[in-house]
Amino acid sequence: MTTADLAAQTMPAGTGAHAFEVRGLCKTYGSGPSAVQALVGVDLDLHPGELVVLLGASGSGKSTLLNLLGGLDSPTAGTLRYRGWNLGQADEAGLTRYRRDVVGFVFQFYNLIPSLTARENVALITEIARHPMPTAEALELVGLTPRAEHFPAQLSGGEQQRVAIARAIAKRPEVLLCDEPTGALDVKTGITVLSAVQRINRELGTLTVVITHNAILAEMADRVFTLSDGHIHHARTNADPKPVETLAW
Ligand SMILES: Nc1ncnc2c1ncn2[C@@H]1O[C@H](COP(=O)(O)OP(=O)(O)O)[C@@H](O)[C@H]1O
Ligand SMILES: [Mg+2]
Repeated sequence: MTTADLAAQTMPAGTGAHAFEVRGLCKTYGSGPSAVQALVGVDLDLHPGELVVLLGASGSGKSTLLNLLGGLDSPTAGTLRYRGWNLGQADEAGLTRYRRDVVGFVFQFYNLIPSLTARENVALITEIARHPMPTAEALELVGLTPRAEHFPAQLSGGEQQRVAIARAIAKRPEVLLCDEPTGALDVKTGITVLSAVQRINRELGTLTVVITHNAILAEMADRVFTLSDGHIHHARTNADPKPVETLAW
């Protein structure tokens, strides 16, 4: 059976039962004796609107998987589909369109432009996106309305990260990918950041994938996948995902 047949079977046009369909996904960096096999056969279905946490030790392949889901990189082998579209074999132009129209990214470091206010950092995106939300609405969703006119240097780490989240969601992405968004933050601040992520997931229905080192944070998710040596070695569903504010870590 070809991948097109598989897609036709599992992805009736327009229904989107799965957002992502991942089969036997492999990623090898480099070649020859120095090659690194970062992913060695990942199978995964992600559903529209769910909140997923990826756990795993450093080097287990979490960022590699997230980057492939986000169209930042292409797999070496295996199948990667988004709503039936062959993301894994997309050309550069297709990947660019996909990243621009479908995906919002949040990284550990906020990458804000220091000479622009919080509002202006978000407006950069709302000015170029196709169906953006008003900048004020994006800042409201992350609880930063009172700080809209502040520059990054006048904001705490957690506030800067929430600006980065507002920027990522202002274009109303279908998918929000967060790579250790609390990695540089203390516990209390991390809670405010992840609360914003959880609120966006629930209120906007954005399929959200969050990478973290912290197993306690997995309680916030609908589903939790643990990576180990480049494959998913454990998957579970939380019957009752917890509000981030109630998690103690
Ligand atoms: N661009 C790259 N070039 C070479 N090796 C890489 C690259 N990115 C990641 N790796 C390697 O791939 C493996 C998985 O990395 P990564 O996905 O970043 O893991 P994690 O995010 O779980 O810490 C590691 O061994 C890492 O050193
Ligand atoms: Mg990583």
